[in-house]
Amino acid sequence: MNDWRVPGFTSTGSKRPDALFGPTPEAGFDPPAQMTRASGCRVWDQSGREYVDYIMALGAVALGYGHPAVNRAATAAINAGVVGPLPPVSEQELADALAARIPWLERVRFLKTGAEAVAAAVRLARVATGREEVLGCGYHGWLDWCQGATDGVPAGIRALFAELPFNDVATSRQMIRDRGRAHRLAAVVIEPVVVVEPTREWLEMLRAETTRAGAVLIFDEIKTAFRLAIGGAVERYGVRPAPDLVVLGKALANGFPRRCVRALASGGHAAAARAASAPECAFGTSDWRRRHCRDVFSALCDGGIVPASGAGRGAAGAVVQKNRVQLRLARARRRDGGQNARNPR
Ligand SMILES: Cc1ncc(COP(=O)(O)O)c(C=O)c1O
Repeated sequence: MNDWRVPGFTSTGSKRPDALFGPTPEAGFDPPAQMTRASGCRVWDQSGREYVDYIMALGAVALGYGHPAVNRAATAAINAGVVGPLPPVSEQELADALAARIPWLERVRFLKTGAEAVAAAVRLARVATGREEVLGCGYHGWLDWCQGATDGVPAGIRALFAELPFNDVATSRQMIRDRGRAHRLAAVVIEPVVVVEPTREWLEMLRAETTRAGAVLIFDEIKTAFRLAIGGAVERYGVRPAPDLVVLGKALANGFPRRCVRALASGGHAAAARAASAPECAFGTSDWRRRHCRDVFSALCDGGIVPASGAGRGAAGAVVQKNRVQLRLARARRRDGGQNARNPR
């Protein structure tokens, strides 16, 4: 395609010039290959040509490029020192601000990229359920767990993942039931909008069937959060009980690398109102699962199985403290009267 020293340049295929303008652009149109700057809704190429950008970094930049308030906040954070030995106060402030806007939020884990954050949610689900298989629908980043038949992904990893068809109620239900019956399904991860909107029937079926299968329902709201609504698809489509985990991203930091995994309240059938007024973490509807998963979420995050990778705690902070996690999980199980994570119902 080109002889650049950095083949393909940007991180995702969809941001390459061929993806934007087609492999053979119209006669007379000389498409830009690289940009020099961006501001508001405009970008400029190397020869100084100006374009209106309808893509907006694939939805990452909801407020426009170089938004002054966001840049001021980023500059202040840089001036305050980017990393340090302790978690930054601003992390807690941001979590509180998010919880104020999205009332069912209980706990938050910040990470840098969407792929990382969705992988973290899947790892949480695998530990919480003691199972390994995952069904996914949509794009969840480039990491191995969701790649299916991509070269370089080991067969053992591929075997743990299958694609769920978007908006196809009958097939999706059957796939969840088959794996649920065999106690193999850890999680169903969906991108709630893939080109078209999801049907209410499909969303309701996913919530009901994952609960029934003892699996964790994860909404990948990397593209939809803060865009469909502040609370993303969960808010817009009134998904209740809420998904067990939601991954928010892109627009959260207006293009700066910042994503998060959230444990959401779902509160069982007794409804949104309770969840909205009394946030709590809930992975499903049984009290045991809710309590157990809350402990797992804390233990994993505290223990480094889902490492922090935000400003102030970089990769060096991702210390895996397995013993501590196991100890905490064991305590959680004892508190739950001898039930264990492999038999969540
Ligand atoms: C729905 C969804 N999930 C995950 C990702 C991966 O995010 P990142 O590119 O930040 O790793 C993307 C990226 O476009 C996405 O659209």
